[in-house]
Amino acid sequence: MKFFVDTADVKDIRELNDLGLLDGVTTNPSLILKSGGKIAEVTKQICDIVKGPVSAEVTATEYSEMMQQAKVLAKIADNVCIKVPLTLDGLKACKTIRTEMNRLVNVTLCFSANQALLAAKAGASFISPFVGRIDDIGIDGMELIQEIRQIYDNYDFQTEILVASVRTVNHVKQAALIGADVVTAPPATLKALVNHPLTDKGLAAFLADWAKTGQSIG
Ligand code: E4P
Repeated sequence: MKFFVDTADVKDIRELNDLGLLDGVTTNPSLILKSGGKIAEVTKQICDIVKGPVSAEVTATEYSEMMQQAKVLAKIADNVCIKVPLTLDGLKACKTIRTEMNRLVNVTLCFSANQALLAAKAGASFISPFVGRIDDIGIDGMELIQEIRQIYDNYDFQTEILVASVRTVNHVKQAALIGADVVTAPPATLKALVNHPLTDKGLAAFLADWAKTGQSIG
């Protein structure tokens, strides 16, 4: 399973990348706003840090304007993955970007299995189902991941399932159990995956016993 971080905060991205945990990055207009930077500059900085796909989202809603923006975003760096919304224009742009620009495309704002089916048919590199936002309306977001996994496997679609709107470490575990290809999670959620009280307790006991030996290594 690949780990993407869902942020435009360059400091957090650098820290996770240095840990060797990052396979890619996802941004969106809200995350760019939060970063306080300009999309072209922030995206370039991120692409200089991370080798894997860095999703940058178009903000147009009409096909030809989306294509213009896609070309601008693609020029920022070779690893920019163009993010388009799950609309008819977005799907049309997805198909063109994949076939004519040979770029990775992340189709975002997916909330149903049929939408994911359309994205796969449009040749999407990634489909982003938003599990947290589905949970927010009282429906189990992970059921959607299971449905998409089954549909993609039924037809051998190569589109990767990128579980988005991840809010908890449990989302990450469930996504891995279902066989999702990628999770994108906030930096704090990715770092929290390491936590276990028995690890802390065991380490404290080992270190206390080690101190009693009076030895040192190296
Ligand atoms: C995915 O690409 C989106 O940027 C993101 O996961 C949305 O998450 P949110 O629902 O926490 O805003």
